[in-house]
Amino acid sequence: MSPIILRPADFAAAAAQLIIDHARAAIAERGLFRLALSGGNTPRAVHAQLVRLGAELPWNRVQITFGDERCVPPEHADSNFGMARETLLNAVAIPAGNVFRIRGELAPEDAAREYEDKLAAFASRLREPRYVHDLVLLGLGEDGHTASLFPGSPALDETVRNVVATTGPKPPPQRVTMTFPLLNAARHVAFLVTGAGKHPLVEEIVAGGSAHPAGRVQPENGAVTWLVG
Ligand code: 6PG
Repeated sequence: MSPIILRPADFAAAAAQLIIDHARAAIAERGLFRLALSGGNTPRAVHAQLVRLGAELPWNRVQITFGDERCVPPEHADSNFGMARETLLNAVAIPAGNVFRIRGELAPEDAAREYEDKLAAFASRLREPRYVHDLVLLGLGEDGHTASLFPGSPALDETVRNVVATTGPKPPPQRVTMTFPLLNAARHVAFLVTGAGKHPLVEEIVAGGSAHPAGRVQPENGAVTWLVG
């Protein structure tokens, strides 16, 4: 299925509405919406719109994971969980148990293994070979990375593990990241990309054939939407 590129006038509101639409469909079909949040700065404005437009969502039927995390404590300014807690999780009625945090304060490999086990335990209850997200949100770096899958990283070649410890050039260097096998098990992936400087990179990736890590997100049974602002 070819990726779809959308260039909405109001990026953050359109991204929030895409999330809400997927949430309502997943909850209607399966009683649960399994959403992976992305890191970095772009999600901040999207989360604010999601709080505004999604206040009526049944947040007790939403399960949150994180595509990647920096290996820092949750109170650290660089924590993706900390950013999500500040901009979204503290503002909606989601039970704490529905939020699967990567414990960035642990040693990276310990945090990766613990997270992998947590996702596997939930997946096994649904008889899934690996955890199936209804929607994975991803960002795009100027070097073509996504999550914490950076160019040249051994993590790009992982075909078995769902979550690994890795390092990257974007500080802080030590990270925990979902791998392509897990990302590509999703029902839908939405890249949320802002900044005119990244537009040519998006076009190059969507055209196919590029070596950029983001171009290797190709869900086996899912679709990819690019929301570009
Ligand atoms: C991270 C992210 C990373 C991010 C991109 C885009 O932890 O840094 O997961 O993949 O999404 O680098 O970041 P911006 O949204 O800040 O441009």
